[in-house]
Amino acid sequence: MSPPDYLPEIFDAARRAASRAYAPYSKFHVGAAILTRTDKIIIGCNVENSSFGLTICAERSAVVQAVVQNELEWRAIAIVSPTGVTPCGACRQVLAEFAPQLEVWFGYLDPNGPITGPVPLDVMLPGAMKFQV
Ligand code: THU
Repeated sequence: MSPPDYLPEIFDAARRAASRAYAPYSKFHVGAAILTRTDKIIIGCNVENSSFGLTICAERSAVVQAVVQNELEWRAIAIVSPTGVTPCGACRQVLAEFAPQLEVWFGYLDPNGPITGPVPLDVMLPGAMKFQV
């Protein structure tokens, strides 16, 4: 299967976002870019804190940006980091609130690094918690 057309653009955006990371403690710069169903790209970066547990991951920071922009329908997310990590459990749950079938892609800050995806979010987090309202 050939990679979708949107891939270079969302990975570029995720790398630009990573350059804004506030990560003085871990020095692990992460960027995320959400592609909306209307083809907008919304970015986020990790924001650390002296009280380490208050750190906000890049993925959740992108989620907050999307909500503020009233963009609640998403197709894909790209995440880049120094070691190509997958999103943490907390971020999976927060993403699942909006887009259980989101196409998740992850890769490296280094544009020559390998890319993994699309992994459907509900494969990464089966049985995500959701209130019936
Ligand atoms: N981090 C993210 O922003 N997203 C991930 O998917 C993994 C971890 C951040 C949190 C912290 O600032 C740093 O990376 C080290 O864990």
